[in-house]
Amino acid sequence: MPFLATALDRVKPSATIAVTDKARELKAAGRNVIGLGSGEPDFDTPANIKLAAIHAVEAGKTKYTAVDGIPELKEAIIAKFQRENGLTYKPNQIIVGTGGKQVLYNALMATINPGDEVIIPAPYWVSYPEMVALAGGESVPVVCTAEHGFKLQPAALEAAITPKTKWIILNSPSNPTGAAYSRAELKALTDVLVKHPHVWVMTDDMYEHLVYDDFKFTTPAQIEPSLIDRTLTVNGVSKAYCMTGWRIGYAGGPSPLIKAMATIQSQSTSNPCSIAQWAAVEALNGPQDFIPANNKVFKERRDLVVAMLNQATGIDCPRPEGAFYVYPSCAGTIGKTTPGGKKLETDQDFVTELLEAEGVAVVQGSAFGLGPAFRISYATKTSDLEEACKRIQRFCGNLR
Ligand SMILES: Cc1ncc(COP(=O)(O)O)c(C=O)c1O
Repeated sequence: MPFLATALDRVKPSATIAVTDKARELKAAGRNVIGLGSGEPDFDTPANIKLAAIHAVEAGKTKYTAVDGIPELKEAIIAKFQRENGLTYKPNQIIVGTGGKQVLYNALMATINPGDEVIIPAPYWVSYPEMVALAGGESVPVVCTAEHGFKLQPAALEAAITPKTKWIILNSPSNPTGAAYSRAELKALTDVLVKHPHVWVMTDDMYEHLVYDDFKFTTPAQIEPSLIDRTLTVNGVSKAYCMTGWRIGYAGGPSPLIKAMATIQSQSTSNPCSIAQWAAVEALNGPQDFIPANNKVFKERRDLVVAMLNQATGIDCPRPEGAFYVYPSCAGTIGKTTPGGKKLETDQDFVTELLEAEGVAVVQGSAFGLGPAFRISYATKTSDLEEACKRIQRFCGNLR
């Protein structure tokens, strides 16, 4: 009898965490490594949010809370959805979890039966297909090419829907491409979804605030209010509020779904950290002015990285609308040989050789479902980004 669960056979470890670990290992061994693998802002959590946590500790708010979140945080989330997205939710339609990741996981665990299909536009965040697999479902990746800005086309969505489709997962702005759907692009998709009432919409809006060049963020239930009864709108404080380590994510959705998710949470992790919840209340209700200030820096970095990568031989880097990732194609380097005599056959070879030769850690596109490409996170010091891009230029220039 095997000791480990067979469910593990269906799941791969995270490729992005693997790259970050490898870069850390090389650094510890004394190599000069620039890690562009990890998806978290280099900015510190704003001081008012930290203070709210300190006050919570001092006030003894250190006990178990309601499993699905303290009422004060639910109210702050309800106000946020109303103010920023025009969505109206009641407290029993809101759940708070230990990061957006747990919220997404709970939703899939609460709804997937064997054979249920989940449509996932590719390139996708690495965890979606693995979570679907853990829940016993089938992911249906739909490739969205750079030609279409890495965005799902309505006809491709229509073609992917079957009687077994339970969810479509949308993620705009996207990890890993940074692509974000305009209102018109999203409307074209919701028009398709309106015709298929058995399909539910899981929208991962984690990068909502990280958009540039006057891009206007919208979310499916806002554009097509009739979808509200079958949409789970997922968000969190990790990215825009520089709170990745605090582990607070949340969602709004129909109360029977939220209740089922809370049941799963109640028998696994219970309430998210009480202190982090109080910090999240301050994040959502407090001043928001650091967000545009951070975005100004992110936009400058995006423009720098896109310009420098497009000067590298064999690299083609689109300019995305948001998040803090770019997703350049390295198709022009495949088939070439490094000075050490290694022929690049895949994007995995590209990232391995780049790390070996130049000490730059990026993640291969094949991990996100579309290659040959790689993902760069530009949530890193600008001087490091500049140096990393110079090294990528040199690496590509040395290929024959
Ligand atoms: C698209 C996307 N969704 C969800 C998450 C999870 O966020 P959290 O750190 O709040 O669990 C991430 C984090 O990398 C992400 O990129």
